[in-house]
Amino acid sequence: MNWSDILYSPIWVVSTALLAFVVRAQRRGVWDPHACAVRLKGKTAIVTGANTGIGKFIALDFARRGARVILACRSESRGTAALQEIREKTGNSDVHLRLVDLSSLDSVRGFAEGILQEEKALHILVNNAAVSGLPREITKDGLDATFATNHLGPFLLTNLLLDLMKRSAPSRIVTVSSVNHKKGQVDFSHFHGENLTYFMDKVYNHTKLHNVICTNELARRLQGTGVTANSVHPGVVLTEVMRHYPFMARFLFNLIGFFFFKSSEEGAVSPIYCAVAEEMEGITGKYIDSDCSLTLPVTIARDPALGVKDFEISERVTSKL
Ligand SMILES: *[C@@H]1O[C@H](CO)[C@@H](O)[C@H](O)[C@H]1NC(C)=O
Ligand SMILES: *[C@@H]1O[C@H](CO)[C@@H](O)[C@H](O)[C@H]1NC(C)=O
Repeated sequence: MNWSDILYSPIWVVSTALLAFVVRAQRRGVWDPHACAVRLKGKTAIVTGANTGIGKFIALDFARRGARVILACRSESRGTAALQEIREKTGNSDVHLRLVDLSSLDSVRGFAEGILQEEKALHILVNNAAVSGLPREITKDGLDATFATNHLGPFLLTNLLLDLMKRSAPSRIVTVSSVNHKKGQVDFSHFHGENLTYFMDKVYNHTKLHNVICTNELARRLQGTGVTANSVHPGVVLTEVMRHYPFMARFLFNLIGFFFFKSSEEGAVSPIYCAVAEEMEGITGKYIDSDCSLTLPVTIARDPALGVKDFEISERVTSKL
């Protein structure tokens, strides 16, 4: 047997075809935003972290459907670039940039005040922005920076916008969590950067668990208001969430990811599904998988007593004393 026999062996053809088949089968049946005719004319939507990755594709979709879209971004230059791109691609000029740093409670309060002053209604809020792999960093509020950005900032933002969303009902809150929540743990000293191990996505995993727990509790509190709250797994996506990782980790992830991970555009599908699909009307307190199916999150995320406790502690930590 020589090299060319090995190279052209049918085994490669068969296994490649099989792999392609499995990958395709996995993606088949996923809801297609382009085939969904829902229009959002007259609706207002906020997407956090909308300058890049999944967030940009979510905002792009809303703009295509005719919504008034507010891109909530931290960087003015990157936000402006996304704003121009979305306006150009969709022809929708009712797309706006508002700056917010979710890791700062003051910044979140300032952003929310601006929204409450300027917007008559809010129908969709997508809590998308998140960071991963940050080293230990304590914010001026005394909070762990990853927890502040991924859980406490969005938690405060949602609460501050709640009355506006109730007045605008039916409205939907979509919080982008992750399958990683299953590896998270609850320890409230984490909020202040205590007892945390800053290793790869460990802190991220904890924050994604709090996203699911508090979204479930929020849904319970919102029963009967016409405002729904769900958390969603976008799929394993290569996005800028990785930007704080060491070079080699990013390189390896990108290499593997090229074959197995979703693109940001594909990752945006399940959050868009939660925010616009008719099938999701009235559905609340659920966790939606990356294939747009309702799935169960990890057991402790469904513990109502823990939900109440997490919500109350998060409220206390983010309230101005
Ligand atoms: C977290 O750390 C503090 C000290 O910073 C300690 O007193 C506490 O027992 C720790 N909690 C857990 C759950 O390990
Ligand atoms: C975080 O969660 C992911 C997905 O469940 C898991 O693969 C990873 O090992 C977890 N990270 C850490 C540091 O525990």
